[in-house]
Amino acid sequence: MNTFDDNDQRNHPRPDDNDFSRMVNTLLSRRQLLGTAGAGLGLFLGGQGMAQAANSGAQVGPRIGFKPVAANSLDTITVPAGYQWRVLASWGDAILPGGTAFDPATRGTAISQGLSIGDNNDGMSFFSFSADHGVIAVNNEYANYEYLFANGRCVSIEDARKAQAAHGVSVFEVRRVGGVWKLQPQARLNRRITANTEMRLSGPAAGSALLKTMADPTGTVVLGTFNNCANGRTPWGTYLTCEENFNGYFGSAESLPDNPAFKRYGISAKGAGQNWFPFDGRFDLAKNPNEPNRFGWVVEIDPMDPTSTPIKRTALGRIKHENAEVVVNADGYVVVYMGDDEKGEHIYKFVSSKKFDPNNLKANRDLLDEGTLYVARFATVDGQAQGEGEWLELKHGKNGLTVEAGFKDQAEILVHTRLAATVVGATTMDRPEWVAVHPTQAQVYVTLTNNSDRGVKPNQAPNGPNPRVKNVYGQIVRWTPQGNDHTSHRFTWDIFALAGNPTLHKDAYAGSANITPDNMFNSPDGLAFDRDGRLWIQTDGNYSNAKAFEGMGNNQMLCANPVTGEIQRFMVGPVACEITGVAFTTDQKTMFVGIQHPGEKLAPSHFPQGGESVPRSSIIAISRRDGGVVGA
Ligand code: FEO
Ligand code: CA
Ligand code: CA
Repeated sequence: MNTFDDNDQRNHPRPDDNDFSRMVNTLLSRRQLLGTAGAGLGLFLGGQGMAQAANSGAQVGPRIGFKPVAANSLDTITVPAGYQWRVLASWGDAILPGGTAFDPATRGTAISQGLSIGDNNDGMSFFSFSADHGVIAVNNEYANYEYLFANGRCVSIEDARKAQAAHGVSVFEVRRVGGVWKLQPQARLNRRITANTEMRLSGPAAGSALLKTMADPTGTVVLGTFNNCANGRTPWGTYLTCEENFNGYFGSAESLPDNPAFKRYGISAKGAGQNWFPFDGRFDLAKNPNEPNRFGWVVEIDPMDPTSTPIKRTALGRIKHENAEVVVNADGYVVVYMGDDEKGEHIYKFVSSKKFDPNNLKANRDLLDEGTLYVARFATVDGQAQGEGEWLELKHGKNGLTVEAGFKDQAEILVHTRLAATVVGATTMDRPEWVAVHPTQAQVYVTLTNNSDRGVKPNQAPNGPNPRVKNVYGQIVRWTPQGNDHTSHRFTWDIFALAGNPTLHKDAYAGSANITPDNMFNSPDGLAFDRDGRLWIQTDGNYSNAKAFEGMGNNQMLCANPVTGEIQRFMVGPVACEITGVAFTTDQKTMFVGIQHPGEKLAPSHFPQGGESVPRSSIIAISRRDGGVVGA
């Protein structure tokens, strides 16, 4: 979701506003030092990862072979010379029998929307059947009412149903025909999952009193998923879709009693403007106070069976989930890393109780129901851009998570995960977005997109991985688990990149030494490694190209070498879009990329069709004209 409002120039401090001067000075001196002595080596902030890289001598990381593109504010896609892009699928494209072509006059009905790709495509995964055939599962995070509705507002149950049908997940087959990947309308696996699709709650919180409603006295059956932000995929072939800003969909005309959990999750009678609750009582907090507890989960979907019931995995906790990065540890335990995207929230990991069985994929189906949830504490040493950290167990009876502290049982810890994280002493972060694990090394990266509250709110003093007050640019932090063991309780961390604007600033807001006038960006969000270890960074930031963001242009996608720290701009998106969602074909010769909300808030975009057309969120396919590996 767009974060423009957080990136207001008015929030940007002058250097002397900043009482975190020691950190700034350290970053500055490193920048200056490395800018002269280390520039040719691409050195940046240092830290353990760098030390390891330096010690390994010849280690130079993956090749980044394209000629980077300049920032721009055009209403199109810009890719490097020798690359090409095509639209694969857009909001409103029919994928199910009975679906109709997108109608630019009405923008469809509740029924046609439910047979077509939803709005605001976000995280996605590609599941390959052969070199030329696969299925894409993609989140449809929210709906742009300014385009979904002719009058821009949801004012009836019919409108609410149409908006609900524009949310959820779209699953559709794609084939490469004559070198071009194409959506396969009405293919066997095509499916729409919406805010009204029946799902099951499973894991330790399923059946809890907190999850029971009048419509579901069992606390195990829930309708739908919405605000599905980023994603994950499991080694047993399922798709994970992550519920993020679910809170704003609930509201009430009545005033509500004080509720600390509602407060922490941002649930209030006011809602956030989706306006479903006046027409659909399920979203009325006075009538259904437990309904919001049934959202904020990671949902597992089998994309190979369009009749399967999606499952909300409560063991992974209830937060405003960004993505769910799954890694099988060397000993077979499954680890899922997750960010909670809100100012001052936290980073989590789940470790399964049972091991992954590569020889019997079906045996893994419920691995995400049983395990231990942890939250991260980063040890902060004043003035250091690196340090140690630990994972704190969120388990009833441990670390102060007792009945006296307000947690009746483990279910309550999982439903009110944020409250539990505060009790155990988790580190407040600058809006954790995607987490990405290196394909061959035990290294984990996270985007911390921005945080206008850092240094402003009392519980958000600057700390090691979140060093800048009123952080409008964001940073990428990484850690290495102790002993290269993802189940370890300890890790060491450093900052991979501090985004900034080196043409405007000379202090820490210039960014780390690997940020230059040629690659600068703000608000890193989407993050994923390719097979070769290139780190792809997508932005969801301020696209004004003005003031603090001058020279950054539209939202963009960059490619980084995690060993040298080199970062190059690979792509620029159209007007007022966010770049989010990335997937590769098995041969890595095609990269699918999400272009979300071009023209949001009625900004002048007509992407992708041009002319005077309605702008539509789309997935594009990027490839090299010479047929080579993308990025190499
Ligand atoms: Fe949906 Fe945190 O981005
Ligand atoms: Ca995001
Ligand atoms: Ca974001």
